[in-house]
Amino acid sequence: MNSFVYDIPVKVYFGENQLSHLGEELSRYGKRVLLTYGGGSIKKTGLYDAVVSEIKKAGLEFYELSGIAPNPRIESVREGVEICKRENIDVLLAVGGGSTLDATKWMAAGACVEHDPWEFFSQWAPVEKALPVLTVPTLAATGSEMDAGGVISNPETQDKIGRVAKPLLPKVSFLDPTNTYTVSPYQTACGAADMMSHIMEVYFNMETDLYMLDCFMEGMMKTIIKYAPIAMKEPENYEARANLMWTSSWAINGFTHGGKQQEWSCHPMEHELSAIYDITHGLGLAILTPRWMEYCLDETTVSKYYQFGVNVFGIDASLEPMAVAKESIEWLSKFFFETLGLKRTFTEVGIEKKNFAVMAKKACGGDVLLGFKPLRQQDIEQIFEMCL
Ligand code: NZQ
Ligand code: ZN
Repeated sequence: MNSFVYDIPVKVYFGENQLSHLGEELSRYGKRVLLTYGGGSIKKTGLYDAVVSEIKKAGLEFYELSGIAPNPRIESVREGVEICKRENIDVLLAVGGGSTLDATKWMAAGACVEHDPWEFFSQWAPVEKALPVLTVPTLAATGSEMDAGGVISNPETQDKIGRVAKPLLPKVSFLDPTNTYTVSPYQTACGAADMMSHIMEVYFNMETDLYMLDCFMEGMMKTIIKYAPIAMKEPENYEARANLMWTSSWAINGFTHGGKQQEWSCHPMEHELSAIYDITHGLGLAILTPRWMEYCLDETTVSKYYQFGVNVFGIDASLEPMAVAKESIEWLSKFFFETLGLKRTFTEVGIEKKNFAVMAKKACGGDVLLGFKPLRQQDIEQIFEMCL
């Protein structure tokens, strides 16, 4: 087993009525706050008013940046950096989905450098520091509230690039499951698919690692399978929303990675889809994941699928391993495309074959993705073909 460092220093307030601590937490980092949000869902739900009231109660000065779009654009990051510098912002408060959180993290880093923030992605400019970021997530999906990552799109270059950097870790996150009551069934489904993928990218690994981590990941996958359909049917079911919300944070906060060192596979492929077609991240992952599993299944990997099928979907352990493996892919497909009702193919969401070569080349960085199975451009093109 590989050695690892465990260090997840995000303070989490979980549950209802925790926003009363927002003012005191913001005040630790300064007086001038930049409040960021998306297309306006927080105004409809009343969360905007609640947040502003806490900021005012604490006697803080605040500025706003709204309109951060799903698959957030570098342009929003530039706008945020500009405000931070112009108004001498001390601390950023991101209220919204993963897109708002991600864009805000990069504003916080961009505020500490002189260069254009796209250079963090185009030239891998170092991320040595960032302004402090606090978050109030409103959607259970990306786990951005508890990780150091952020994914930004540049429509001009048709790139969507994710990067992880320690200074981007939020200082404090307020996880109130009731803030996700208004998430649509479609976004709830996409969030569930995203969380499943975050876990599967690590779980599908042939290193004989920590059994404890495998059990933990199986438990989280079962949680998503159990509660996502409930949250879709009963949007105000607290138990369902709470279980999904806490799973979203733990699926990607780094805990599951202990000792398991490999690149992710479906995420780099999906980012190329969103970069060109601007589709919802979780939807792209749902279409790709069962096909990627099919592509990677052989005698050398079958044992992992067997474990997944038996422990997550309860498939009969006495069946042949290969039969269990194939059935596990069917069960996962049923979950994504029937239970969650997500579209099944690229064709249905308008993704065309003409861009496959270019997307596949970018997904593997022009070389090889060292994931569960090494994937080169031609492998990725074949997986894309299976999704048509
Ligand atoms: O913009 P508003 O009006 O807020 O509406 C949003 C948006 O239209 C809406 N929404 C969010 N909370 C809501 C709500 N609607 C009603 N009620 C609420 N409570 O949902 C829509 C989607 O929002 P978005 O923030 O885009 O969704 P999500 O949280 O799934 O974020 C997706 C982005 O995160 C990136 C993805 O690539 C994508 O760009 N990721 C970030 C990761 C990270 N930081 O670690 C990891 C992930 O793998 C992922 O790549
Ligand atoms: Zn994801």
